Formats: sequence, C-alpha cells, structure tokens
Amino acid sequence: MEEELLRLQKAAHEDLAALSEIKELEPFRVKYLGRKSEFTSLMRQLGSVPKEDRPRLGKLANEIKVDLEEKFSARKSELEQSAAGPSDSLESDLTLPGRAIPFGKLHPVTQIMEEICSIFEGMGFGVAEGPDVETDFYNFEALNIPKHHPARDMHDTFYINESLLLRTHTSPMQARIMENQEPPLRMIAPGKVYRCDSDITHTPMFHQVEGFLVDKKVSFADLRGILGVFISKMFDENTAMRARPSFFPFTEPSAEIDIACVMCGGKGCRVCKHTGWLEILGAGMIDPEVFKQVGYDPEVYSGFAFGLGVERIAMLKYGINDIRLYYENDLRFLSQF
Ligand code: FA5
Repeated sequence: MEEELLRLQKAAHEDLAALSEIKELEPFRVKYLGRKSEFTSLMRQLGSVPKEDRPRLGKLANEIKVDLEEKFSARKSELEQSAAGPSDSLESDLTLPGRAIPFGKLHPVTQIMEEICSIFEGMGFGVAEGPDVETDFYNFEALNIPKHHPARDMHDTFYINESLLLRTHTSPMQARIMENQEPPLRMIAPGKVYRCDSDITHTPMFHQVEGFLVDKKVSFADLRGILGVFISKMFDENTAMRARPSFFPFTEPSAEIDIACVMCGGKGCRVCKHTGWLEILGAGMIDPEVFKQVGYDPEVYSGFAFGLGVERIAMLKYGINDIRLYYENDLRFLSQF
C-alpha cells in the first residue's frame, strides 16, 4: 500500500505540473482527490491492513492528502492569475521615462501686461486697479468729457443704464486715485476695457495700462523720458520713438506716441502701412480741468498721463497681425508664448 500511495503522489505531482488551463483543474481534482478517486479508495482500504502497519500508513496517507490539496490550490491560483492577464507590476518597465505633466501657462496678453507693469514699477510707479463697471462720471465727466461732447462718439460705449457703463478706457483711474491722494503721485492702472468694436486690430474687450505722474514742475520732456525708457526696455534698446500731435479732452497738449516699425525697422512695410512708424499709445499733459475736478491747484501742480493698448504691444512684440487670435482660445496658438 505504501508503494501505491507514493506512486499516486508522484503521478499527481507530474499531472499537476502539466496542467496548462483552468478547465483541466476539475478533472484533475476528480481523478486524485474526488470521492471515487483511486486515492480515496486506498484510504478506505486502510481498515483492512495489518493492525501494526495501520498508524504509519494512515499518517502517510494523510500527509499525501494534505500535500496534494495544497499543491492543487497553489496551481489553481497560478492558472487563474495568468488567465487574468499580466499584472501591473509585470507590465511596468521601471526604466521608462515618466509621463510629463503638462503645465499651464499665463495668457500672452497677461505676460505682456505683467512685463509692462514691472518696467514701470522699476521706475517707481505704484499699481492700482479699478472697477470694470464704471460710472458715467468717472469714465467721462471727470475727464472733461461732458454729456453730448463729440469725443464720446470715439468710445463706442456699452451702456448698462444711463449712469453706468463698461469702462471704455483706464483713464477713470486718474480721477479715482487723484481725488483720494495728494501729489506727488506716480501710478499705473492696468485692466480690462470695453468698446463696441471688432476687426483685425480691435476687439470688444481689450486691456490698457494707464500711467500718470503728478508733481511740481513736471514737463513734456519728463513724459518723453519715461516713455523712452519704457520703449527701450519693452522693445529694442535702439527703437526710435516720436510724438505726434493729437487730441484727448483730458490732456493738453496731447500726443500719440509712435515707435519705428518693429517689422521693417522703419523702412516701410505692409504692417506700418509704408510709413515706417507704429502707434502704441495716447498721452499728454493732464488738463487743468481734470485737476480742478479732483481739487488740485493747476497753478501749483502739473503732470502727464498716458494710456497704452496691451494687445497692441503684444501684437508688435510677437509679430501677430490679427488681434482676434488672442481670444479664440486655440491652444496651438497660445502655447507658443
Ligand atoms: C485712450 O483710450 C486714452 N484713454 C489714452 C490716454 C490716456 C490718452 C491718458 C491720454 C492720456 P485710445 O482710444 O487711443 O486712447 O486708446 C488707447 C489704445 O488702446 C490705442 O492706442 C490702441 O492700442 C488700443 N485700442 C483702442 N481700441 C481698441 C480695441 N477695440 N481693441 C484693441 N485695442 C484697442
């Protein structure tokens, strides 16, 4: 009997190792561990072996049974695991480079806005922000643009009601800041502005940075000096600039500031309409009427102000000829900056 038990155990081990599919497990179990298996019938015969051999053979039979059950269940889990496919740990190649997490970026207009602000901050200007929904008073009246003044037409205003509107420029911040602070003042006010206007160089929402300086004996030469430093830092150090006479009701005299075309270096091209110059901002000496509105004595104080279009600067700096690209949210465009 001992021989037969050992032979059975050996055969079971060989069969178990040869199993390659889950469906072969049950026939194996029936053959070696089932109620009608050869092994079970040998166990039954134990009762008829000589008494003195019974304990030894009984112990051996039990050990073989436990051994076969353990090996069967180990083989079963092996086959089930390989049927479920390779595990993650087997699939991972730890030497592969990791997957890059894409970083977000600041919008190109925001980047330019921050650059403009930091240049002026470097020259001692403070930064203040004001409301997008503005009163008719600050947007127009305080800036010497009374009701029915023709200058209002230039602004293509979005009105909310008779006295509220979406600010059409950042100049209302001049009046808001001056009425609360005494000179000397050196401030910039960046922000969104709105006009009912849309084509390749105009959008209904765009950004401006207002700047102004008030003190005793401020002259147009100071304005030119500050803007000259700004232009040389923002563009090329040798970028030429010029002031052209213009009109704004809140500055006198007023000027538009041009820079030599960044595309052709001033030789003349399609972008500068063959003039060699590009307008970048409006500016001038603050009108005495504005000072009176905020309670400053125009006999004592003088000052300059300027307002630049941020998208305009961004277009020139990056060589973009359609402003609307900035607002179409096409990541192929935006991710280049
Ligand atoms: C003004 O808005 C004045 N407040 C600027 C100023 C401030 C003058 C202080 C004097 C003293 P203007 O309307 O020209 O001026 O606009 C200034 C700049 O905004 C323009 O040079 C242009 O670059 C930009 N701009 C105007 N309209 C649009 C628009 N619809 N889309 C994009 N940029 C615009």
